[in-house]
Amino acid sequence: EIDQNLAAKLKNLNMDVFRTGAQAPRRNTLRQFAPLLVAMVGLPGRGKSLLARRISRYMNFTGENTRVYDISDYRRSHMKQYDSHEMFRADNLPAWRLRQQSFREALEDAAAWLQQPRHNIAILDGPNVSRSQRQEIYDLIYTQLGFRVMFIECVCEDPVLLERNFKEILQYSSDYGDMATEEALKDLTHKMAHYKAQYESPTLGSLWELPCPMVKVLDGGEGGIIAHGVNGSKESKILAYISTAKNYQQTLYFSRHGESEFNVIGKIGGDARLSPRGRLYAKALANHIHALNLPGLQVWTSTLYRTKETGAGINVPQQHLHELDEIWSGECESLTYEDLQDQFPKELALRDNEKLKYRYPQGESYIDVMARLVPVLTQLECETNVLTISHQAVLRCVLGYFLETPHDEIPYIHVPLHTIIKLTLRGHSYNMETVKMPIECVDTNRAKPVNCSETRSPEDALLTLPKHYDSIASVTTLMPCT
Ligand code: F6P
Repeated sequence: EIDQNLAAKLKNLNMDVFRTGAQAPRRNTLRQFAPLLVAMVGLPGRGKSLLARRISRYMNFTGENTRVYDISDYRRSHMKQYDSHEMFRADNLPAWRLRQQSFREALEDAAAWLQQPRHNIAILDGPNVSRSQRQEIYDLIYTQLGFRVMFIECVCEDPVLLERNFKEILQYSSDYGDMATEEALKDLTHKMAHYKAQYESPTLGSLWELPCPMVKVLDGGEGGIIAHGVNGSKESKILAYISTAKNYQQTLYFSRHGESEFNVIGKIGGDARLSPRGRLYAKALANHIHALNLPGLQVWTSTLYRTKETGAGINVPQQHLHELDEIWSGECESLTYEDLQDQFPKELALRDNEKLKYRYPQGESYIDVMARLVPVLTQLECETNVLTISHQAVLRCVLGYFLETPHDEIPYIHVPLHTIIKLTLRGHSYNMETVKMPIECVDTNRAKPVNCSETRSPEDALLTLPKHYDSIASVTTLMPCT
């Protein structure tokens, strides 16, 4: 009898599954490594664009060539100026055609981009609210091109988060650039209502409309994540990344350690103590940070003396993380750049040629540092009011992540000593402000020399050696960091 009940239940379930078209995603081993299109789904103001941008930033940093295609950019390119919410009404046929055209152009551009060598992930950012649009995405990308598709639906009911998202749209969307705030808010509310009327969720209860990976993000991840049929390395990596709820209000502070005894004599690596000026900076940094009175402030440092000493005067919880240790220069530890040219001229030339990929003998490359930093970076995205005290190469990688710097440029980002850097999440990207403390220090930034050949003269190799003292004359030209 029990078996019969179970059989009936399963039969019903199968019928439901069949009726709604939700089948288990096909596992096609031939396309495990095929390019992937990620399509966002959701009403306006649900955090889709921020999530799309975050996924893109993370996937690019970890080696997956990723690009975001924003459907509203295409829509705007067809309009002289945004007029009003009327264009989002379902019964406004000319406007509907324009929106549909924009959707198709973005999809086709994303598909074309994915067909280029070494292009891995395209993210189609837009509401994609109708079943027919999602079917079109699936038909083109999965059926016709033989690529992979994943849908990420953002659902948000949390009033605090909704208010924050609304504010961001009003402040940063170019649609509302010229509109008074009250009028813009009214317009956005109407726009939302039009989209709500057209919204067809890709899920019916626990059933999913298409046989491909689908993920539902509730309240920006705070409410949990529901995932269906996620397989494939790229999809699993994205799911793992978005599974930790990120912070939506973020202010992060960064600083190198105060000038060290090794900095003064131009030596790289090592575990030196602070110089007298470095100790002065540590005090000035503590005063500056205490004066900001940041709620819940934490300090994260590397495990090396110079960063721990720099943060020691700040009375808040501290964590010392190996991931934040300076690039390990292996056999070249504790040498000066002149010593390097003297003892390892070929290595220095190789490094100058391809600084990003170059790995010191028995040591690390920038790529290695980027890889070991990933857990810290993804945790930082969940935090606010963290002061990270680390080192030149590491902070170049950290800033490269948040500011989405092309990888080849990361080893040359200028991160001077005795300077506080503040990153604030504004809209979908981070805004950087810096303040240089008026305490003299050496300059440790060695630019790329023009001549990187292995046969160059020592003079050519050392042409870009940092000048000894960094000027403090620039203090007034830097932006305040409050
Ligand atoms: O010179 C200071 C320092 O932090 C060294 O310890 C480190 O090896 C170096 O900067 C990294 O900078 P670059 O990659 O430009 O040599």
